[in-house]
Amino acid sequence: MAKEPVRVLVTGAAGQIGYALVPMIARGVMLGHDQPVILHMLDIPPAAEALNGVKMELVDAAFPLLKGVVATTDVVEACTGVNVAVMVGGFPRKEGMERKDVMSKNVSIYKSQASALEKHAAANCKVVVVANPANTNALILKEFAPSIPEKNITCLTRLDHNRALGQISERLNVQVSDVKNVIIWGNHSSTQYPDVNHATIKTPAGEKPARELVADDAWFNGEFITTVQQRGAAIIKARKLSSALSAASSACDHIRDWVLGTPEGTWVSMGVYSDGSYNVPAGLIYSFPVTCQNGEWKIVQGLSIDEFSRKKLDATAEELSEEKALAYSCLS
Ligand code: NAD
Ligand code: LMR
Repeated sequence: MAKEPVRVLVTGAAGQIGYALVPMIARGVMLGHDQPVILHMLDIPPAAEALNGVKMELVDAAFPLLKGVVATTDVVEACTGVNVAVMVGGFPRKEGMERKDVMSKNVSIYKSQASALEKHAAANCKVVVVANPANTNALILKEFAPSIPEKNITCLTRLDHNRALGQISERLNVQVSDVKNVIIWGNHSSTQYPDVNHATIKTPAGEKPARELVADDAWFNGEFITTVQQRGAAIIKARKLSSALSAASSACDHIRDWVLGTPEGTWVSMGVYSDGSYNVPAGLIYSFPVTCQNGEWKIVQGLSIDEFSRKKLDATAEELSEEKALAYSCLS
């Protein structure tokens, strides 16, 4: 029997991530190739004509799984009945700007959209915030939507996770699909900590710790970390626009694994509400290693954290605490 369609909200759908993301969703990349979807696309009035153009293209592409399109500038209409919300709407960082520069513009959007989601989305709607500052926007959304379970509000750090896999694959000349269990700790910012201490690589001789396959630890402890931390800025420098296809693809990975589960023995990175695991202060949206099953994520417990890593986990937590304070000061 055909499945009931799932309603997926994309905010900022007329923007560049939106343009890459909606066809992926309509093709089944996010929720599976047997899952019909109804797309809800929200943007602001100056982008209404462009948004309608995206809707026209979705019709023209004749996606078999796409059972309907709502394209609107009305946040209530956009949020009504949605089962998944991908929050991309906001102002992107431009060359030379730090994430903090876009904070005041974006946190007020997330405060107001929190109430619309709380009142009108389907019960148990899963939310991923993509727009920067992603962790702090997600935190504001959580705090101003108190009736949405906190486990349902997350932010995207899967792009950073995928970037780490990509860098290892390139450096070691191995297939990206053979690399697993990297971790992105903390903020989706240049203080994030890409950790390879538990990462493994599938080889003809079995699974090996990634560190065993690199002759010199200096790369993993230096250039690898800074390359992943700075990749967003490098893309902006090269494209004069922030990443879009990789962000859209990673948002699909994030929701797909959350809904359909992570493969046995594999974890992924998600920005989730901290419960104090790994001595990360509770009350931040912080990126952890998680496994997902039956539509629920769980932080991977018991991983060893050496002194080098500890400092990095703490530094990115510190930045998130500062962002939280700054966000509240922008809202007051
Ligand atoms: P963009 O400017 O191309 O698109 C953003 C869209 O949001 C625009 O169409 C704009 O009109 C719309 N918008 C603005 N205010 C809105 C509101 N209140 N409600 C609904 N829509 C609204 O930007 P983009 O390149 O698509 O990037 C979107 C966001 O994603 C930016 O904040 C960017 O920094 C962030 N980003 C995050 C990641 C990540 O990994 N977390 C990666 C790349 C980009
Ligand atoms: C990215 O990581 O590509 C985005 O968050 C863009 C940015 O602002 O760095």
